[in-house]
Amino acid sequence: MVGGGIGIAPLALLRRRFAERNIPARVLLGFRDEAHSGGLDDLFSCCEVRLASDDGHVGHRGYVTDLLASMLEGDDAGSATVYACGPPQMLDAVAALCLPRNVPCQLAMESPMACGYGACFGCAVPRAGGGYLRLCVDGPVIRADQVESIHV
Ligand code: FES
Repeated sequence: MVGGGIGIAPLALLRRRFAERNIPARVLLGFRDEAHSGGLDDLFSCCEVRLASDDGHVGHRGYVTDLLASMLEGDDAGSATVYACGPPQMLDAVAALCLPRNVPCQLAMESPMACGYGACFGCAVPRAGGGYLRLCVDGPVIRADQVESIHV
């Protein structure tokens, strides 16, 4: 699991579901600074967590995707599936790391939603190969290979 900023909170729920099913999980979390990095002990108390921060106050100084890149170089990367939630630029970077390595990857995406039932296309993101995905009805969790990079 790769989380950044407020995208960390939904991953805590997914981690809990995995723990209930005895599915092993590694969690990589990225923060801007110390003021935005509280509550980890409550959210991720029972699994392996690696941290990154832009200001270096905790964990790796740099992006959480640096940690993912390193992890995907490991021997067990071929059996991994990556679940990511965070800022669009982070999701693009996660997809760019996973897709060339054929690592399955799911992105929890965010977009303003006006109607919420597929009519207005206010939540649309470019679909890989053309067209659009509506996050309200097609997502908000999308396979990385289904969505076109829009923030790189
Ligand atoms: Fe209107 Fe998704 S919010 S189509």
